[in-house]
Amino acid sequence: MHFPLVSAWNKRRRSKSYDTDPWVYRAAECWQINDQAPSQPRKRRYGSSVYTLKEMEEATSFFSDENLLGKGGFGRVYKGTLKTGEVVAIKKMDLPPFKKADGEREFRVEVDILSRLDHPNLVSLIGYCADGKQRFLVYEYMQNGNLQDHLTGIKEAKISWPVRLRIALGAAKGLAYLHSSSAVGIPIVHRDFKSTNVLLDSNYNAKISDFGLAKLMPEGKETCVTARVLGTFGYFDPEYTSTGKLTLQSDIYAFGVVLLELLTGRRAVDLTQGPNEQNLVLQVRNILNDRKKLRKVIDPELPRNSYSMEAIAMFADLASRCIRIESSERPSVMDCVKELQLIIYTNSKGGLGGTIPTFRRL
Ligand SMILES: Nc1ncnc2c1ncn2[C@@H]1O[C@H](COP(=O)(O)OP(=O)(O)OP(=O)(O)O)[C@@H](O)[C@H]1O
Ligand SMILES: [Mg+2]
Repeated sequence: MHFPLVSAWNKRRRSKSYDTDPWVYRAAECWQINDQAPSQPRKRRYGSSVYTLKEMEEATSFFSDENLLGKGGFGRVYKGTLKTGEVVAIKKMDLPPFKKADGEREFRVEVDILSRLDHPNLVSLIGYCADGKQRFLVYEYMQNGNLQDHLTGIKEAKISWPVRLRIALGAAKGLAYLHSSSAVGIPIVHRDFKSTNVLLDSNYNAKISDFGLAKLMPEGKETCVTARVLGTFGYFDPEYTSTGKLTLQSDIYAFGVVLLELLTGRRAVDLTQGPNEQNLVLQVRNILNDRKKLRKVIDPELPRNSYSMEAIAMFADLASRCIRIESSERPSVMDCVKELQLIIYTNSKGGLGGTIPTFRRL
């Protein structure tokens, strides 16, 4: 990307309003600002605004520590308030020289893909800033942060079982939208689905974030061979890591790992544990269909009256199928959506207060 072209494009975008056809898709690798028809981005709920570095600094009080929401592999995320008064989350991409190319690619993929998506279970990209060497992504602000913090007790109280089920269903619906062709005409593999990329709004609705590693499946194909295996330890599809073949089912494996985190309240990988207890999948894989042993791994902080054992067994069974080694044996995302709806119904029937509460803390 040539920066003068970016700023020229930014200026053009600022001075026009677009409400015509969606963009014609071009692979992120071919994303060239100068030949991308800038007059035709899809009109989105927010529109992808372009910001200056000054606007980013003002929004976050110069990236003050008080506004720091969290830190990830590609930078820090700050809470910010735009001139319009809108509260947002601003990811300041941190690109040390050895990660520069990867970071730049993630930035472009995220802007390119997320700008085209619009679903209640996906975090919205409000805009971005590409100013000199600085890169920022501006997202809708998710008041309750990431799911992992709520499961591992970093937040003050753990979330209840019915809310966990609702989060699992929301995340599955977000993935279903990506995997269907409804988003950009061809399916999208997220490739970095994990509990820190499931964010929660003020009502604990789940929204998937971080599309920097997302991959559009080649048209008509179910497998995409990649040169490098990308993702996060603990969530890697074993078939993808051993063959480099990426499929939609790679996301299902990661989804299964998140189901296990919801069930057990443990991390996918916990390096503070002994060598045999660090990997959640290896630890629980063989007991998911054994009710007696299953009871022992249910998050001990879930009150016994918040779940029915029937619903737990169905949930564990779904998780066990999602994490199968053979990707063809895993359920599709639509199967996951349907099964989770049934599990929610089963749990509510078990004398647990009828319909799922909008939000209930333990
Ligand atoms: N839109 C948002 N609203 C509120 N908090 C957010 C938002 N996006 C990210 N965060 C917070 O910032 C943290 C860091 O996010 P980031 O995506 O940079 O890293 P990560 O997903 O935790 O890890 P990694 O970079 O390794 O994938 C998140 O865990 C979350 O708590
Ligand atoms: Mg993230």
